[in-house]
Amino acid sequence: MIGFFDSGLGGLTVLRRVRALLPHHDAVFLADQKHVPYGDRDDADLHRLLSANIAWLDAQGCDVVAMACNTSCAVAQSLGWPTSRALVLDLIESAAIAVSDAGFERVGVLATSATVRSGAYTTTLGRHAPHVRVHEVAAPALVPLVEAGLLDSPEARAAVAAACAELPTDIDAVILACTHFPYLDAHFAASLGPSVARIDPAYEQAGRTAAVVASRGVQPGNGTLRTETTGDDRTALDRAVRELLGE
Ligand code: DGL
Repeated sequence: MIGFFDSGLGGLTVLRRVRALLPHHDAVFLADQKHVPYGDRDDADLHRLLSANIAWLDAQGCDVVAMACNTSCAVAQSLGWPTSRALVLDLIESAAIAVSDAGFERVGVLATSATVRSGAYTTTLGRHAPHVRVHEVAAPALVPLVEAGLLDSPEARAAVAAACAELPTDIDAVILACTHFPYLDAHFAASLGPSVARIDPAYEQAGRTAAVVASRGVQPGNGTLRTETTGDDRTALDRAVRELLGE
C-alpha cells in the first residue's frame, strides 16, 4: 500500500499523479486539516506533526510513503526524518531531479513560509543542479484560499499575481513548491506568461514512486483509495477527491 499525507487538500495533487501511474495499488491519504496551514508553524511543531503522520501511515501498513507535503520535507531536512517501516520518498528531492533533468538555469521557488525559511529547496537544488540560480518566495496567502475552495476567485487570482510579482523577471521556470498550488495553476499560467515553465514536482514524485514499487516488488492490491481527515468535517476532502481524482 502507498501512503500519503498533507496538511490538507494539497497532497491530493500528488496522489492523483501517483494513481495515474499505479491505479491498481491501494492508497491511503491523510489530510491533517486540524492543523492546516502548516506553513505558519514553527519547526518543532512541524516535526511533531510529521512524526505523528508517518507513524499513522506506518500503522496502516504502508510499504511506501510518497511525501505530499513540501513543508514537512523541509523540516525533515533540518530536524531529521522520523524512522518508518516504509520507504519514504522526499518530494523536494523529486523537484530537484525534475529541474536538473530539464536543464533550467534560473529557477523561482514559490512555497510556504516554513519551506522558504528552511532553505531546503536551495540546498537540495544545489546538490542536484549546482549551476542553477535559485530565488525562493513565500506565498502564505494561497493555502487558506485553496482549503476554502476559492480557486476560481478574484482573491486567488490577485494573491497568485502578488506572489509572482516578487520573482525576478529573468527566470526560466518556477517550482510550485507547495502541493496546494497546482489547484491555482491557471492563475500561475496567466501571471507568469508562456516563457516561464511551471514545474509541479508531483510528476517526478509519481515516477519515483512507480520505480520504487517495481524495484521493491510491492504487490498491487484492488486499487482501493481510503482518505481520512483529522478535521471535523470531511465535505471539502470528499469534494476535492471527486473533482480532482474522479473517485
Ligand atoms: N501543502 C503543503 C506543502 O506542500 C503545506 C501547506 C500548508 O499547510 O501550509 O507545503
